[in-house]
Amino acid sequence: MTPLKTLHQWPFLGRTRPFEVARAEGAYLFQPDGKPILDAGGGAIVVNVGHGRVEVADAIREAALNCSYVVPTWMTPERQALIDELTDHWLPAHLSRIHLASGGSEANEAALKIAIQYQAARGKPEKNKILSRSLSYHGTTITTAAVSGHASRKRGLESILDEYSTIETPYPLRCPLGAHHPDAADYYLHDLQAVIAHHGSDTIAALIAEPMNGSSGGAITPPDNYWQRAQKILKDNDILLIMDEIMTGFGRTGEKFGSDLYGLEPDLMVSGKGMAGGYAAIAGCYGTEKIAATIADSPFEVMFHTFAGLPLSCAAATKVLQILREESLLERARTVGADLKQRLIETLGQHPNVAEIRGEGLLIGLEIVSNRDTLEQFPEDVNLTGKIVSHSMGEGVFFYPGGTGVARDIICIGAPLIIGEQEIDKITKTLASALDHCIP
Ligand SMILES: Cc1ncc(COP(=O)(O)O)c(C=O)c1O
Repeated sequence: MTPLKTLHQWPFLGRTRPFEVARAEGAYLFQPDGKPILDAGGGAIVVNVGHGRVEVADAIREAALNCSYVVPTWMTPERQALIDELTDHWLPAHLSRIHLASGGSEANEAALKIAIQYQAARGKPEKNKILSRSLSYHGTTITTAAVSGHASRKRGLESILDEYSTIETPYPLRCPLGAHHPDAADYYLHDLQAVIAHHGSDTIAALIAEPMNGSSGGAITPPDNYWQRAQKILKDNDILLIMDEIMTGFGRTGEKFGSDLYGLEPDLMVSGKGMAGGYAAIAGCYGTEKIAATIADSPFEVMFHTFAGLPLSCAAATKVLQILREESLLERARTVGADLKQRLIETLGQHPNVAEIRGEGLLIGLEIVSNRDTLEQFPEDVNLTGKIVSHSMGEGVFFYPGGTGVARDIICIGAPLIIGEQEIDKITKTLASALDHCIP
């Protein structure tokens, strides 16, 4: 690989020299000197079927040769094949309408716009507020950043980001009633009801939420029955539920979608990341017949992005989704994820600085604190997460750094769903060593 000519060409800010990857295969990245790095973060929790799949590359090549580009609203064989794959094998039956985008932020922004347009199209333009959650991440465009509960990704932009009302993210470890309090679900549902009452349900279009937090909180899972009851409150108040499944979708948690963990039926659902496992930039926003038909009967348009549903992206996604099914990788995410979590709990569960090891399938988070009894964090300027990630890289494992605000030092594991015993071992030993070396 040609060395970079200067240290500040890439990335944009050029503060640090970028980590160099010469190639990747399976669950491993290879540095220019051939050193392997286990991709335990799956990049930004994207890679699911592993790197270097010839069959995906072949599908992309064939699609690019067959039809490089036509406007997103037209049909091509590659688009048809993806719609068939999604409809026949992945999407819940009630989400029959598909809007494609090139990334998660775009797809979430589409979901927000569709929710608002739907309310206006049914004659309720005053139902135009979006609720989101105190700890969350929905994207990096102006609006998706504004709705996100992610302080560090909003820094320097606060003056132009609109204020959105938030409900408290259900966070059993840090529930104000006490850690894992039996009434935690009641507490957080009461908050949801109070926020709705404060604004009036006739002013609220939708709630956007991740079924379980992605990197913003490191796989925070809600208390039992929270989601079922929250969904009922939303329905009773005529508020749409937008599930952001960009990180949790397509098998990451061991289910098709994170919503399946909690028996949810969102009105709009958004996916990205694992949809094409890193082989193409593609995401989707899926809606009910009722939402799409209502907007269709109005003068409104749902505008496309130029590169949405690019045939080669559709072909990549179709092949990745087929591989997930044919190789039973959802089941594997469940079993390997459970083994990995168990091993981490056995090895680090009693560590004085590990507050919690949590998650579902192969979306696992470790929350690190300075005091496990009080849950006090290390000061932000210690940059403990950065130190742990960088030490682990030195030992040959990449973890995805997470956390913001109250959930500050979070190590996320989102490995490709193809990992096995050897990788479980390496992840556990590396994390133990990183904690030994990095805790001040
Ligand atoms: C839950 C969630 N929503 C939205 C996004 C934004 O997606 P993208 O970076 O593809 O725009 C992310 C990315 O990390 C995410 O995890």
